[in-house]
Amino acid sequence: MDTDIFSLRGRNIVVTGAAEGLGRTFALAFARRGAFVACVDIDPAVEETCALIEKNGGKALPLMADVSNEAAVTTMAAQLEASADTLHVLVNNAGIAIPPGRLLDVSVANWDRVIATNLRSVFLCSKALLPMLLRSKDASIINLSSFLALVGLYPGFEITAIPYASSKAGVDGFTRQLAIEYARDGLRVNAIAPGWHGGTRLGRERQASSEPAVIKRFNDFIQGSIPMGHMGTPDDLTGLAVYLASSASRYVTGQTFAHDGGLTAA
Ligand SMILES: NC(=O)c1ccc[n+]([C@@H]2O[C@H](COP(=O)([O-])OP(=O)(O)OC[C@H]3O[C@@H](n4cnc5c(N)ncnc54)[C@H](O)[C@@H]3O)[C@@H](O)[C@H]2O)c1
Repeated sequence: MDTDIFSLRGRNIVVTGAAEGLGRTFALAFARRGAFVACVDIDPAVEETCALIEKNGGKALPLMADVSNEAAVTTMAAQLEASADTLHVLVNNAGIAIPPGRLLDVSVANWDRVIATNLRSVFLCSKALLPMLLRSKDASIINLSSFLALVGLYPGFEITAIPYASSKAGVDGFTRQLAIEYARDGLRVNAIAPGWHGGTRLGRERQASSEPAVIKRFNDFIQGSIPMGHMGTPDDLTGLAVYLASSASRYVTGQTFAHDGGLTAA
């Protein structure tokens, strides 16, 4: 019998947005603890994540899909079912951010794109994979929210945008409601709300559209506003992700966990 409550041996896990950033870090961490990890992304670099897992002796399956597209998600679920009977963990991690701006700067196209990628995808993937999750009788969904679902932020200049905060607040509501609906069916549903974590490509659209002076002001503000005095790294998040994926969190459901160096407590 496995006495390590954080072990993921024998668990089948799907991580969306696993080609890079937090998703790749989670996939590698889960595989190191013994899980089979299906890595889903719209970016072919998801193959590299799986190659890294296998190089370390783990088991992985790359699945290309746009998680905001219903037909693509249905195909992805069918491909997964051909390789595994049951699913124990789904990490709804894929997400995007757009250049910062106040409401009057936000186009309808960007609103639709962010809501589709960050919120519609959580609905589509959870619904498509729920039958496989319920078959395991011991399942966990982990949704990537954001501290921007918990607090508003406007330090006198643009640093985020309404569609992103709205999509993540939607993720938190989805998390609570799904958790309650299936609490007696062996499914737990929780969300992680990260603060600023460097080393990912989430800010690429913002950086591409900003002057160096604007990027510096942005970074100076972030560093100065975090009580612990520094940004997090993707690796910092793996402890919480493993906890929520494993039996260590077996009595925890419907919660959003801020992981932010004290940002939302200040
Ligand atoms: N990094 C942070 O500080 C931070 C803070 C708060 C929340 N988050 C959330 O964590 C998650 C991961 O962010 P990250 O920083 O690793 O970003 P990232 O840009 O480095 O990685 C996101 C991944 O999602 C994939 N993706 C995007 N759209 C997709 C789609 N339609 N279908 C399939 N895959 C798609 C990308 O290809 C990429 O591999 C996101 O949901 C993000 O909102 C991150």
